[in-house]
Amino acid sequence: MKTIISKSEQDTTKIAAKIAEKLKGGEILALEGDLGAGKTTFAQALGHAFGIKKHITSPTFVLMKVYELGAQSSGLRALIHVDCYRLDEPQELFYLGLEEYLNNPNSVVVIEWADKIKNYLKKFKKVIWLKIKTTRNGREFLVVRH
Ligand SMILES: Nc1ncnc2c1ncn2[C@@H]1O[C@H](COP(=O)(O)OP(=O)(O)O)[C@@H](O)[C@H]1O
Ligand SMILES: [Mg+2]
Repeated sequence: MKTIISKSEQDTTKIAAKIAEKLKGGEILALEGDLGAGKTTFAQALGHAFGIKKHITSPTFVLMKVYELGAQSSGLRALIHVDCYRLDEPQELFYLGLEEYLNNPNSVVVIEWADKIKNYLKKFKKVIWLKIKTTRNGREFLVVRH
C-alpha cells in the first residue's frame, strides 16, 4: 500500500506516466473515488502516456471504449476505458465484451467506479486499486495491489 499526492492535473499526468511505464499488459486499474475525484483525468493521462492521440472522454453513457495503441515495445495493443457509474449489473460488461480484455496480456483496462464491480473483479489477477481522495491540497492516490 502506498500513497501518492497529486496537487494538480500535471502531477496526475506524471503519476500516470510512472504507472504506465510499469505496466506490461494484463493489468486492471480499478479506480475508486467520488464524483470529481479525478478518475477520468487519470485515465486520460494514462492514455496520453501510451501515446493515444485521440481525446479520451468519459465513457459514462457507453460504459466502455477501446483505444488501439500504436507500436509499443511490449505486446500491449489496447487501452480499455470503462466507467461503471451507470452500470446496473456486471453482466452488462460481459455482454459488451469486456471479459476478453481482462487479464489479456495485450491490454490494460482502466475502470472508473470499479467499487461497483468489486465482487466481479475478485476472480481476476493483477488488479491494482487506485483509491482517489480529494484533500485540501489536491488529491491523494492510495495504491493497493491484489
Ligand atoms: N490531481 C488533481 N488536482 C486538482 N484538480 C484535479 C486533479 N485531478 C483532477 N482535477 C480536477 O477535478 C475535476 C474532476 O475531474 P474528473 O477527472 O472528471 O473526475 P471524476 O472522473 O473522478 O469524476 C476536473 O475539473 C479536474 O480538472
Ligand atoms: Mg469520470
